[in-house]
Amino acid sequence: MNVVILAAGKGKRMRSDLPKVLHPIAGKPMLAHVVDTARKLGAARICVVYGHGGEQVREALAADDVVWAKQEPQLGTGHAVLQALPHLDPAAPTLVLYGDVPLIRAETLARLIKVSRSDTPALLTVRLPNPHGYGRIVRADGKVTRIVEEKDADDAERAIDEVNTGILIAPTAALVRWLPGLGNNNAQGEYYLTDVVGLAVGEGMVVEAVHPDHAWEVEGINSKAQLAALERIHQRNIAERLMDEGVTLADPNRIDVRGELTCGHDVFIDVNCVFEGKVTIADGARILPNCVIHDAVVGPKCIVGPFARLRPGTVLGTDVHIGNFVEVKNSSVAAHSKANHLAYVGDATVGSRVNIGAGTITCNYDGANKFRTVIEDDVFIGSDTQLVAPVTVGKGATLGAGTTLTSNAPPGELTLSRARQATIPGWVRPVKKKKD
Ligand code: UD1
Ligand code: CA
Repeated sequence: MNVVILAAGKGKRMRSDLPKVLHPIAGKPMLAHVVDTARKLGAARICVVYGHGGEQVREALAADDVVWAKQEPQLGTGHAVLQALPHLDPAAPTLVLYGDVPLIRAETLARLIKVSRSDTPALLTVRLPNPHGYGRIVRADGKVTRIVEEKDADDAERAIDEVNTGILIAPTAALVRWLPGLGNNNAQGEYYLTDVVGLAVGEGMVVEAVHPDHAWEVEGINSKAQLAALERIHQRNIAERLMDEGVTLADPNRIDVRGELTCGHDVFIDVNCVFEGKVTIADGARILPNCVIHDAVVGPKCIVGPFARLRPGTVLGTDVHIGNFVEVKNSSVAAHSKANHLAYVGDATVGSRVNIGAGTITCNYDGANKFRTVIEDDVFIGSDTQLVAPVTVGKGATLGAGTTLTSNAPPGELTLSRARQATIPGWVRPVKKKKD
């Protein structure tokens, strides 16, 4: 199968310098969602028709299995698919998707592909209480005969509530026959892809229509409000899936997954957590409110948060506690270790049963290069300690509060770097001089 994705439209109503199809849903350009769905269907060729903001779109979505067809100027959906034809396998059917309709499901498309049986066009249609603006599906004796656009429709046709979603499949050889001959003698002066339906019926083909399982699958994005609305629907779907898998969510409306979140058994996620990239959370772990977790592994029975930030490369072992205002980056923290308050652990290897006191900071960056900190098992780090990397704290060592550690701390000993406390007997506070 070929998949053509129409993405040449300007998207003026987004009021943005970013091309419309690059605006993200769940952290990923909406066009990338459509490309991924095409891949799921096993498309042999994926051709994106681009125009406005073209080079930026091409760069963002560059992939070996995607080819690009430029459409300039944009003379309508029929003209758009015409630009893609040279890239398609004429022996396989062509599925047309929209780059700004990101939530279409592969399961729905599979049904559309099935009814077309590769030798006739088939349409994805919906019935809408308010069909205004859409192309209407005209039927005679129940059979689809053609599509008429809103602007070309008469009153009777405007009363039809079955509309064209724009998504269709057609035999490519037929498109090669039909598209070059399309006219633009219509209300908008455009070459309408929808005219192929009438042409197919004229050749004696039966054009079937399939409905999506959910209305949101065929909703398009033209504005920031629609972008936000589909983002919420998508996030709700992810939340439902997590709950189906047994994850406990304090509130399915207050979780954002921008990537791939994999959870074990009996995972609890409290409100307002954001997961980015590839995140794995093992059995029995608890993520408390307001955490941001990005490309990280959370081990079994960990407690993370509230207000914790796990950045890429964080790997937490079993029963690790990462508390409020603690940031961990590119570090591993082994079993039963704790950093419960106000700390930065970056580029560090932390052993088991380590206690990292409040205000501890790994100074991993000298302004030019980054260095590692190694904290071995059973270390106790007093509050407000700076570990100036590269540095190693030996097994069982204790660092006194307020230490600035610039060389290795030997195992089993107390190391500290701070001025000895002194009391000046009889010292008197200065008092303000009286003016003469
Ligand atoms: C089209 C359909 C209409 C359907 C509606 C669903 C036609 C003639 N009409 O309407 O029946 O109900 O979609 O939303 O097909 N595009 C290009 N190049 C162009 C024109 C459009 O790439 O020259 C892309 C747009 O970026 C968009 C999609 O095609 O992703 C649909 O274009 P849009 O103008 O939104 O749809 P309509 O033509 O209004
Ligand atoms: Ca200090």
